[in-house]
This record gives sequence, C-alpha cells and structure tokens, in this order.
Amino acid sequence: MIILGIETSCDDTAAAVLCDGSELVSNVVSSQHNIHSQYGGIIPEVAARQHFKAINSVLKKAVEPLENKFRDVDAIAVTNGPGLAGSLLVGVNVAKGLALSIGVPVIGVNHLEGHVYSTWIEHNEIDKNPGFPLLCLIASGAHTDLVLMKDFGSFSLIGRTRDDASGEAFDKGARMLGLGFPGGPEIQKAAINGDAKKRKFTKSKMPGTFDFSFSGIKSALRREIEIESSKGKISSQKISDFAAGYQEGIVDSLVSKTVEAVKEHYANGIIIGGGVASNQLLREEIADKSPVPVFIPRPNLCTDNGAMIAMTGWIKFKEKPSPQWDLDVIPGMKIG
Ligand SMILES: Nc1ncnc2c1ncn2[C@@H]1O[C@H](COP(=O)(O)OP(=O)(O)O)[C@@H](O)[C@H]1O
Ligand SMILES: [Mg+2]
Repeated sequence: MIILGIETSCDDTAAAVLCDGSELVSNVVSSQHNIHSQYGGIIPEVAARQHFKAINSVLKKAVEPLENKFRDVDAIAVTNGPGLAGSLLVGVNVAKGLALSIGVPVIGVNHLEGHVYSTWIEHNEIDKNPGFPLLCLIASGAHTDLVLMKDFGSFSLIGRTRDDASGEAFDKGARMLGLGFPGGPEIQKAAINGDAKKRKFTKSKMPGTFDFSFSGIKSALRREIEIESSKGKISSQKISDFAAGYQEGIVDSLVSKTVEAVKEHYANGIIIGGGVASNQLLREEIADKSPVPVFIPRPNLCTDNGAMIAMTGWIKFKEKPSPQWDLDVIPGMKIG
C-alpha cells in the first residue's frame, strides 16, 4: 500500500510517500523559516498563504519517484490538527480534492500522534521489542507533552507544560540573545563554544507532577541579559555561555521528568519526537540517564515532515477506517 502523507499544520509545507509502512520513497519539506525569521516568529496569515503557494510543487516532488505519479497512490493521510487553522485548511482541502480526483480514501491524522509514530519509520518493531507501554515525550514549538502509549491509538496524557513549550523557550531565548529563528538550532550552535557552568540556570521542579514550566528560565535569561548589557555590549563568548547554560537548563527539565515518569509508569522504552528532539544535548543526556531503551527519529524526522503523517496513516489504514470525506480541521486537537 502506497500512502501519501501531507503536513501543513504550522510553517512547513511537507509531503512524503511511504510504501508498505517501511520504505520511505520520498520526503519533501518546503520550509518558510526564511520568511518568518524576518519577524522572529510565525505570522499565521503569512504561513497559510505560503502553504498555498508551495503545496503543488511539494506534492509533485513527493510523487516524482513513483512510476505513474499520483495514480500509484493508494491512500492519503493529512494532518487535521492541532495547528494554525489557516495552515491546516490548505492541507486538508488539497488532500480531499486530490483523493477525490484520483479515487482513493483520505483520513485525518493528529500531528502529535504523527511525532510519536515517526519513530516507527526507522524502528518498526518497537511495539514488539521492547513493547508497550512506551513513554513518549513530544517536544516542539507549540507542545511539550508526556504521554503514556499503551497500544497503537491508545494514549494517556500524564504531563504537559503549564506555560511555554520547550521549543518556544528555545525560540524566545534565541531572540533575546540576538540569534536567528528557529531558535533551537541557533542556540545549539552557539552553545558549542560556550561554558554552561559560567551561566547556570536552575530548572523548575514542579514537584509531585510530570508537568513542565519554562517561563521561569526564560525570565531568568532576560534578567541576566539586562544585567550584562548594562555593563556594555555583550561579547560573543558571553552569548555562547548564556546559550550553553540555557540549553542545559531546558534539557535538564525534559530529561529528569521523562526519566521520573518512566520509572513511575513502568514503561519499557522512551520515544522522543517533535522539533526539540533533534537537539544533540537532549539526545545524549536521555541516552545516558534512561533506565530503558530510547528511540528518537533522525533529526529531519523530528521536525515537522510528511513521512510521520504517512506512517500514522499506514497504521490507521491497516485497521481499514472509512474514508473521511467530511474531514475538518481541529486547531486545538489534543493527544490522550
Ligand atoms: N536542534 C534543536 N534544538 C532545540 N530545539 C530545536 C532544534 N531544532 C528544532 N528545534 C525547535 O523545534 C521547534 C519546531 O518543532 P516542530 O515539531 O518542527 O514544529 P511544530 O512546533 O510546528 O510542530 C522550534 O521551536 C525549534 O526551535
Ligand atoms: Mg511538530
């Protein structure tokens, strides 16, 4: 079965072709980062218009390796939430129109489930070895959720951020430090030359819960920058030290809560997905501290992509759902 996955929930226009749930035939992403970096964040109206401009060529590229192009596609999966309403609408409407014209079924996919199922692209037996339950950390620009996965399609939310998402904390921190957008990769890059010990940020503990909070560390960074800049221009070495300390603080929160939750819920393994999962320090720290095996997709399958939507579609289509011709967008969709 050949599935076309379409993703337009935020600022990446993406499509991918997945064959029989294992062979990733194509994975095309057209990013709007250059446009949004001028504003230091995403402007929803601009994002929707850009999706509209990019979607046709992204889809054409995605089916390019198939002998009969769109005619070889057996089913279409598309993100219908959560995300920006205008952005989601582009993907959902294009998916429905395309499915109708080539005569194949279309189904909606929860973007957050997509980040979890992305792991199955490279590790397609996790459900058998180590097996369920699996503890999933979804860490992105809009979400930071800890979810216990008991089976395919069975998720329960056990923790979430009370304020900013971890990716948002990276983005806002980078902006304060005068680094580019998206902030996560920029902070990671700046931190390479920095010394985290020189600028330590204590993590918020949120005792007795598996919830996160990143507003405190963000305010602490702002204060430190204000103090430092009152003494004159901040040197690039100091920017790097700030970046290293800030990155370490965010990663420390994510890793310690995830490890606590794994023990409490007797999970057999950890899955990490979402853009922040591509952070190198996070990948190293969790591998070091986890008592169970850790599965994280390669970086380009952590940030938003069509492959994770196609993979989720494959898992859902195996259950033979009826096509969703009345599919609508649900911007506030949750997991668990
Ligand atoms: N190497 C990295 N380190 C930390 N954060 C990262 C890294 N790469 C991307 N991110 C963050 O991931 C977020 C984007 O996540 P993604 O899942 O692609 O989008 P969305 O939030 O729209 O679902 C951004 O906030 C970005 O700063
Ligand atoms: Mg995402």
